[in-house]
Amino acid sequence: MKRVFKWIGIAIAVALGGVVVFVIGMMLWVNSRLDRTYHIEPRAVAVLTDSASVAEGKRLFSIYCSECHGDNAAGTAFFHNPSLGSVNAPNLTRGRGGVATLYHNTSDWVRAIRHGITPEGKPTFIMPSKDLHYLSDADVGHLVAFLRTAPAADGVGRKRELTTLAKVLVGMGAFGDISAEVIPHDSVPPTPPRGVTAAYGNYLVTTFGCRNCHGERLAGGKHPDPEGPPVPNLTPGGNLGSWDEDMFITNIRGRRSRWMPFVQLGRMSDDELRAIWSYLHGLPALPTATQ
Ligand code: HEC
Ligand code: HEC
Repeated sequence: MKRVFKWIGIAIAVALGGVVVFVIGMMLWVNSRLDRTYHIEPRAVAVLTDSASVAEGKRLFSIYCSECHGDNAAGTAFFHNPSLGSVNAPNLTRGRGGVATLYHNTSDWVRAIRHGITPEGKPTFIMPSKDLHYLSDADVGHLVAFLRTAPAADGVGRKRELTTLAKVLVGMGAFGDISAEVIPHDSVPPTPPRGVTAAYGNYLVTTFGCRNCHGERLAGGKHPDPEGPPVPNLTPGGNLGSWDEDMFITNIRGRRSRWMPFVQLGRMSDDELRAIWSYLHGLPALPTATQ
């Protein structure tokens, strides 16, 4: 009997030792990935400074960025909880906590938006640059025109404090990719001209990151937040199969959910939403995916 206990004890000790080695290994690996320095010289983008360009940049910011960085760009606490730690989407203005003073030229902004890399060469976390990489030069130019002149507002500064648990989860991919690691930094993605076309709709779906939630084939999927609900099928195989363009636009503008950025998406113009509809409506009808 005693011998059995001895072997059970040894087995438990080995298992615990394995867990400790796994956790420490994950931490070191994730730390080194988040602390890596990248040397990326972004492709030049023309930034117009006229008031129409700034206004267009502000509009794009309200669609693509405000959910995390706030309507006035002063930042928000992206998450803050005892088990995972704290991550801010920081203030991007020159007010209190703002990072704008660290951004000296257009390239610094383009590097952050398109490549997910700060002026110090460090990768950003959560920030969806892997999708924003596909924004056209014109759209990036407008965003930078707005950011360079955004009124100073006081807000939350940089903060990225991850608990050991959060680091293990990052290592296991639970927070999605670290953008800087997966972006094809040298690629020059083609961008379709603006218009009510399926091609432009696909551009908007790609840059807005609809596939992160609705699945690679837009046939539905699992929400990136483990507490989130199953995400609906957007191909004609789901509810959208019985909708028309007006119903689609009314649905986007009228609905509210903490799990889907309807507010930000609803700020797109009618033509932009019509382009998205045209793209989704033209997809093959797929059965709803559960993963
Ligand atoms: C899903 C949330 C989210 C969205 C949407 C988002 N960001 Fe971010 N962004 C973050 C987070 C979180 C960080 C902080 C990353 C870190 O600390 O590693 C960040 C970091 C940044 C930084 C780097 C700041 C620094 O510390 O130097 C810039 C610049 C930035 N975002 C601009 C934008 C712009 C412009 C858009 C829209 C085109 C945008 N972000 C959309 C979450 C987001
Ligand atoms: C952060 C995850 C997320 C992103 C990003 C996202 N969605 Fe959603 N979407 C959801 C969830 C979750 C629901 C279900 C919401 C609910 O019912 O509360 C939903 C619902 C919808 C619906 C209603 C579908 C139905 O059958 O009722 C439409 C339409 C839609 N999304 C379109 C889009 C489009 C287009 C994009 C990109 C431009 C997008 N979504 C981006 C998570 C997301």
